[in-house]
Amino acid sequence: VSLSPSVGRVVNISSMLGRMANPARSPYCITKFGVEAFSDCLRYEMYPLGVKVSVVEPGNFIAATSLYSPESIRAIAKKMWDELPEVVRKDYGKKYFDEKIAKMETYCSSGSTDTSPVIDAVTHALTATTPYTRYHPMDYYWWLRMQIVTHLPGAVSDMIYIR
Ligand SMILES: *[C@@H]1O[C@H](CO)[C@@H](O)[C@H](O)[C@H]1NC(C)=O
Repeated sequence: VSLSPSVGRVVNISSMLGRMANPARSPYCITKFGVEAFSDCLRYEMYPLGVKVSVVEPGNFIAATSLYSPESIRAIAKKMWDELPEVVRKDYGKKYFDEKIAKMETYCSSGSTDTSPVIDAVTHALTATTPYTRYHPMDYYWWLRMQIVTHLPGAVSDMIYIR
């Protein structure tokens, strides 16, 4: 079997939360960090075969995707609370839990409604002669935050972003 060079492309959709953590998002961050690690391993493995692997890390496009609705968040929250062990419910308290859920609900309409930066990134990754390893379609606030979190010592980024 002979493989012709530069035949393949893999473009995985990760997230800015595949590069930096965020409170109340651990399941999401864990899976997106996983997509990053998987894609990085695959990029090394596929390079000798001429297959290029890119990762697109979109910022906040929640409003454009309708991934969440206040109704679905409330339904999941109710199920979570009902299924929590009594000891955990007592430790955190209903007030704390409800505050976090209310915050989550405000995310539903947050972010950009224009997905064209993401589409452009995927298009470039698929068609450019030399696609980038990572694409960062996101607004400037999150782009800067991601640079700080990924490039500066943890103590510095914690000082800025943990409150
Ligand atoms: C990565 O993208 C490829 C298609 O480009 C897809 O088949 C695969 O399931 C994706 N993997 C992950 C972990 O998202």
